[in-house]
Amino acid sequence: MPYVTDPTAPRIAVVGATGVVGTTLLQLIQDRGFRYRDLHLVASARSAGREITVEGRTYRVHNLDGFDFSSVDVAFFSAGGSVSTTWVPKAVAQGALVIDNTSAFRMDPDTPLVVPQVNSHELDARPVSGIIANPNCSTIPLVRLLKPVEERWGIRQAVVSTYQAASGAGYSGIDELRAAARSVLEDPESPGVSETFSPSLGFDVIPRIDRLLDDGFTFEEQKMLQESRKILGLPHLDVTTTCVRVPVVNSHSEAAWVECHNPVDRAELVELLAGQTEVTVHDRETVGAFPTPRTAGDPNQVHVGRVRVAGHNPRGFWMWIVADNVRIGAALNALQIAEVLTERGVL
Ligand SMILES: NC(=O)c1ccc[n+]([C@@H]2O[C@H](COP(=O)([O-])OP(=O)(O)OC[C@H]3O[C@@H](n4cnc5c(N)ncnc54)[C@H](OP(=O)(O)O)[C@@H]3O)[C@@H](O)[C@H]2O)c1
Repeated sequence: MPYVTDPTAPRIAVVGATGVVGTTLLQLIQDRGFRYRDLHLVASARSAGREITVEGRTYRVHNLDGFDFSSVDVAFFSAGGSVSTTWVPKAVAQGALVIDNTSAFRMDPDTPLVVPQVNSHELDARPVSGIIANPNCSTIPLVRLLKPVEERWGIRQAVVSTYQAASGAGYSGIDELRAAARSVLEDPESPGVSETFSPSLGFDVIPRIDRLLDDGFTFEEQKMLQESRKILGLPHLDVTTTCVRVPVVNSHSEAAWVECHNPVDRAELVELLAGQTEVTVHDRETVGAFPTPRTAGDPNQVHVGRVRVAGHNPRGFWMWIVADNVRIGAALNALQIAEVLTERGVL
């Protein structure tokens, strides 16, 4: 039972409790037995007053506007970047430690950007800013796999294409994909539904996620470069990406070409990746096997397949990655941060 009366267990708040990430976080808190002694569910005025049952207890959703964080030890924020920009500093000033799922503070030098399997040393003490940032959903699985490769062979460059699911845009993204697919099935000439995604995501792929920057890259692509460098502590790491939204409900995929400083042996690479915490390599026994968003299996694992060392350039290899963007890329990573903080007595 994660709910306890133990006065040393933290009092938690989930901001964005009615969203895709918040709902999944509440499920994971129960599934993983994360101990807490008080729980506050927070969202916008739209959901205020709604009742949500967690572990058999019914909680009323609070309106963030006016919510007091002084009785909260740790607050998980998953309600959008502008909400975090305004409210995270207030929550910190009222005494809460914040684990933020948005991009608002990721590049702040006083805010650690943490993937527990990669840089958990950042969690040894309470950060100066009072905030721990959770990285972008495509960056997290990538850096979990790049870290051991960097340590073994050294990385010269990584070139990555992402295939990102509609759930990355929350409940409205999932609903819109379903509506768009229905409308194109009924009428192939239909322009499809297009509010969250443009053009419509029904039976199409969109090579632009988040806003376009002056250099032609998107903010999503810039996040993958900057965040990978910060998490891995490699300020000159060469990672370049094309981020693409695809008509998949949940779980992001990535095709990654990684060129190393030294020749790579496929068998050793496969064993190295398979030995990482919470990583499943699908072509360990059957060369060429691969995971997909619908068939990968355990959503709490990073899935890898089609590991190929290039014959013409044995310093380079490809791998295909699938990871649940809502869990690995957001809620699970955030909860694992809190678990480490609790183990180390920081919370
Ligand atoms: N989905 C992913 O894969 C993923 C991955 C990594 C990071 N993130 C980040 O996590 C955040 C939430 O994403 P999501 O996918 O869960 O979105 P979502 O399904 O649209 O949920 C948004 C949540 O934020 C709340 N909210 C919106 N505006 C608010 C406001 N002004 N004040 C208080 N609460 C407000 C909503 O509450 P109402 O019910 O009241 O509208 C809802 O609980 C975003 O910043 C997103 O970038 C998402």
